[in-house]
Amino acid sequence: MDKGIVWITGASSGIGLALTKQYLDAGWQVIASARTKGELVSLSETYESLTFVPFDISDDSQVHAVREALLSHTAHLDCVILNAGTCEYLDMTDTDPDWKMMDRIMSVNFFGLVNSVDVCLPLLKQSSRPHLVGVSSQAVQAAFPQAEAYGASKAAVRYFLSSLRMDLKQFNIDVTCLLPGFVDTPLTQKNTFSMPFLMSSDDAAKRMFTALASRPFEFAFPKRLSAMLWAGRHFPKLWLSMLAPKKNSNQ
Ligand SMILES: NC(=O)c1ccc[n+]([C@@H]2O[C@H](COP(=O)([O-])OP(=O)(O)OC[C@H]3O[C@@H](n4cnc5c(N)ncnc54)[C@H](OP(=O)(O)O)[C@@H]3O)[C@@H](O)[C@H]2O)c1
Repeated sequence: MDKGIVWITGASSGIGLALTKQYLDAGWQVIASARTKGELVSLSETYESLTFVPFDISDDSQVHAVREALLSHTAHLDCVILNAGTCEYLDMTDTDPDWKMMDRIMSVNFFGLVNSVDVCLPLLKQSSRPHLVGVSSQAVQAAFPQAEAYGASKAAVRYFLSSLRMDLKQFNIDVTCLLPGFVDTPLTQKNTFSMPFLMSSDDAAKRMFTALASRPFEFAFPKRLSAMLWAGRHFPKLWLSMLAPKKNSNQ
């Protein structure tokens, strides 16, 4: 894969941190963003080619300043990986469900990704071979209980990227949507349900890095989970009976 300059959001933990290591080890210059430095503190002691630019992606008032901060390090970006995200689950057994969660999740996972595109587009246009990558989720491939907010935000990301691919073709910007399955990170470590085919963040980052070299429109992995979700989509009644929470006798 060509080496160049990559901007990675959500780089302080989990998948973003593992991707940052992948790109640094492959000789790329990495500009890493998140609200906090987290585990990037120790990485920056090892790699001179790593720079941290703080960014709360949900805050659109930061867009101009973050673009200026990126421009102080580089005039162009060859690759951008918009990975920052969060997850919360809606509890319908609650007498007063937390519907405000829809706002919180959309403002990070969807509008935060849109803000990030706003930040980086002028710098991508300065690259000779630009590549814009966004992280959606395999959760969009079939319905999951309690994922009303998370699943909707990631479905929005997927559609947004597929439409953006059309509009950025005239600028020779390739657009890829990544759909990871379950990855062992702080985000999933709070899950109480079983997560089939769970991968380590290093494994996931390696698969993403390798797949991105050929600039696919989409990359969903692992394939075994894609097959399971295909069955869920094509046999929705069976999927519902398997996954829908059972009625509690106290309700
Ligand atoms: N883990 C999985 O199984 C899985 C599966 C499919 C898709 N994904 C997606 O993969 C991405 C990474 O998830 P992960 O599992 O690696 O989670 P993670 O370990 O919790 O990392 C999330 C990253 O996003 C950053 N972030 C969160 N809110 C932010 C905000 N408002 N502004 C800027 N940065 C923010 C966090 O940094 P700060 O807190 O320092 O800001 C952190 O670096 C997410 O988009 C997630 O939805 C994960």
